[in-house]
Amino acid sequence: MNSRVRSVVTGVGGCLPPNIVSNSDLAQTVDTTDEWIIERTGIHSRRRAGDEQATSDLAVEAARVALAKAGRTASDVDLIIVATTTPDLTFPATATIVQRKLGAPPGIAFDVQAVCSGFVYALAVADSFVVRGLGKCALVIGAETMSRLMDWTDRGTCILFGDGAGAVVLEPRTGEGTTADRGILGFSLRADGTKQDLLYVDGGPSTTGTVGKLRMQGNQVFRHAVVNISEAVLAAIAIAEVSMAEVDWFIPHQANQRILEGVAKRLGIDGNRVISTVADHANTSAASIPLALSVGIEDGRIQPGQLLLLEAMGGGLTWGAVVLRL
Ligand code: COA
Repeated sequence: MNSRVRSVVTGVGGCLPPNIVSNSDLAQTVDTTDEWIIERTGIHSRRRAGDEQATSDLAVEAARVALAKAGRTASDVDLIIVATTTPDLTFPATATIVQRKLGAPPGIAFDVQAVCSGFVYALAVADSFVVRGLGKCALVIGAETMSRLMDWTDRGTCILFGDGAGAVVLEPRTGEGTTADRGILGFSLRADGTKQDLLYVDGGPSTTGTVGKLRMQGNQVFRHAVVNISEAVLAAIAIAEVSMAEVDWFIPHQANQRILEGVAKRLGIDGNRVISTVADHANTSAASIPLALSVGIEDGRIQPGQLLLLEAMGGGLTWGAVVLRL
């Protein structure tokens, strides 16, 4: 086997705003119940950022934790990619705001917009930079204030989403070129723009001149999620040259407990190998996977050297999967 540079996750961090919003809290303002939300989604509560907290603030907190875990400081960071669909401003990119707030030196910084698949897309993009020597200490962050996009009169959507951020530090390491190497071993990315109407925001700078609100055909999204994700996961597994049986932890995008279980079942992944945070975090869009990863690492379930399978689907539609060894 030939040695090969891989992008290795050396630190993971998460940030959740302190304000907890329960299902019963939402039932005060929309026609819903705690029981209905739990039965259909598995969600018990979600976090909501304070008015003074921007997406970049959550991103910076998550990044600081990830850097500390990696034994790095902001001065080491030379590449920042923020996956977000709720940027602080239309421009500049939230990544450059994070760079400034962190006090990181001039380097590469940009955002990736693939909605809930954003973190999977951003990891894949970062991998391409890192293996080419364009990032010695890269921050890949999923950060969202989804509460800002909600129509609080629409019970079909406002119950589903939450705010938060998760971050990983990626660093190049030379491996043996085998599947025992630490780092990103394979990924698959997909998009189908004909499915825009299923999940989108009805505003934007070049159309309405407003931010807009999230619109969704929930049951259609549900159907596409379970079917499409499985194909992309199998493609990523094949590219990584591993088998599903070798996967230690399945870390899906946390949209809905029923989607998560449906995908795991279809892939033959046992429930006790699935990291689920949807009960407490709800759907934090691009932040959900790194947040779930940080929870699994912090509580000791996910261990260094284990094989992880990440997957997501979101507006676009976009979807994809990443296979990595921690
Ligand atoms: N409380 C009570 N009733 C609700 C409700 C709520 N929060 N939201 C919707 N309903 C009602 C609908 O109005 C509808 O009522 P009707 O039959 O009188 O018209 C009924 O429940 C069924 O609606 P439907 O949309 O078919 O329900 P569902 O079983 O598909 O569940 C979702 C709705 C949103 C929970 C589900 O479709 C879902 O989770 N989809 C995936 C969404 C997602 O994860 N999107 C993000 C992907 S990144």
